[in-house]
Formats: sequence, structure tokens, C-alpha cells
Amino acid sequence: MTSRTALIAGNWKMYKTGDDAVETARRLLDLVKDVRDRDIMIAPPFTALSQVSQIVNGTPVGLGAQNLYWEKEGAFTGEISPEMLTAAGCQYVIIGHSERRQFFGETDETVNQKIRAANANSLIPVFCIGESEQERDSNLTFSVLDKQVQSGLQGFASGDLERLVIAYEPVWAIGTGKTATSSQAQEVHSFLRSLVEKLFGEILAQSIRILYGGSVKPNNIVELMGMPDIDGALVGGASLDAETFSKIVCY
Ligand code: PGA
Repeated sequence: MTSRTALIAGNWKMYKTGDDAVETARRLLDLVKDVRDRDIMIAPPFTALSQVSQIVNGTPVGLGAQNLYWEKEGAFTGEISPEMLTAAGCQYVIIGHSERRQFFGETDETVNQKIRAANANSLIPVFCIGESEQERDSNLTFSVLDKQVQSGLQGFASGDLERLVIAYEPVWAIGTGKTATSSQAQEVHSFLRSLVEKLFGEILAQSIRILYGGSVKPNNIVELMGMPDIDGALVGGASLDAETFSKIVCY
């Protein structure tokens, strides 16, 4: 039997001003305030973090950022340090989302440095990986994921990864309405857990949480969560509305 606590995380991407984010967070909190048997996280844009933190601080809803930079401070125009995120109230940070890899030049190496920085600052990294449609069609899914995991986690020992969360998000399923079937997702999650076991041992493999992401909605969450190696979801579009997201949280 596994004792992994499910995590349902909302990635708000580049949506919502501070006031909009506060309103959504308030409504969400009202709907999920009694949930105790799973973890919940929302990741508003940077500009809304402090305001949303005032709402969710001390509640079952955790706060995450969507990115960080690994330096403590300095002449890095436009970047945000781990210390700034913890000071703004974050407990989590999403790292290596496919949109950052696709549009903003993130590589396995920068992802590795960001995970290291999150760890050093007690932020829980939500480490995103996933294959493109072309890679899946060319039967490269497992080799792509193998490389993303090995490079992203290079140089870490199992003790460094106890809080790490992996989010498997097939790029072809993000924002497209095309969810991986629960068996497609389970196949990959099982592969990822075996890979973590090979690299870091059985104890970490059994405890690490692996989320699925890509067009998760209220109508597919139950089936996904019924899979033995799916420990939660990273939700984009369907996390923007408090009612819809609360249905996913309370699947
Ligand atoms: P989606 O996004 O739920 O809108 O597909 C998921 C994500 O990008 O994390």
C-alpha cells in the first residue's frame, strides 16, 4: 500500500491581475476549506503572489510560483529569486514547464539549477517533464523522459529529493483538450517511478509524487486518479475558475 498524499495543483499561467487572483482564491478557499486528506496548491502570476498569500496563508490551499531564478539577488533584470518567493508566501515552485522550455529557452541544465535553488530555499519543486506529439509519434516518449529526468536531477542524492514532485505533462495534451488516456498516463507514470527507483532507490520511488497534467478536467480526474501511479494533477485552464477547480480538488 502506498501512503502518498495526493496533490492537486493549479497553474494559473499568465492569467489574472492581483485583484482577480484574490477573488478566485477567496472563492476557491470557501469551496475547499474543509479538505484535509489531500494537498492543494495554486500558482498565480508573480504579481499576485503577495496578495493571494494573505488569503490562503494558514489554510489548506498552498501557494506556488511558476518559475524562479537560482541566484539570491543581483543584476538579473526581470528575474525573481527563491528568497523573494518565500518572502511572498510561496511553499511550491513549478520548474521546467513545457511552455518555459518551448518559448523561454529553458533547458534540462537550467531546470537542474532551478531545482537546486528551490531545494536550498525549502521550496517544493514541481518538476515538469513531457514529450511532444512528434516525439510520441516517433516512439521516443520514454527516451525523452529518461533524458529529462536524468539531466534535470543530475548530481542529486535521494535525500535531496524527498519533497520533489514530478509532473508528467505530455506537451500534446496541454491546453488542447486531448488528455492522455488514463492507461497512457499510467504507463508513463509507472515508467517514471521505475526510473526514480533505478536512479535513487526504492524508498524514494515509493514516496515521490508524480502528477499528471494536460487537459485535466472535472470529467476525467476520477479515472486518472484511479491509476496506481498517478498521485495528483497539475491543472492549467480548468484551474482558473474556482468552482471548476474545486470539483477537480474534490474528485
Ligand atoms: P491545461 O494545462 O490543463 O490547460 O492543459 C496544464 C499545464 O500546462 O500545466
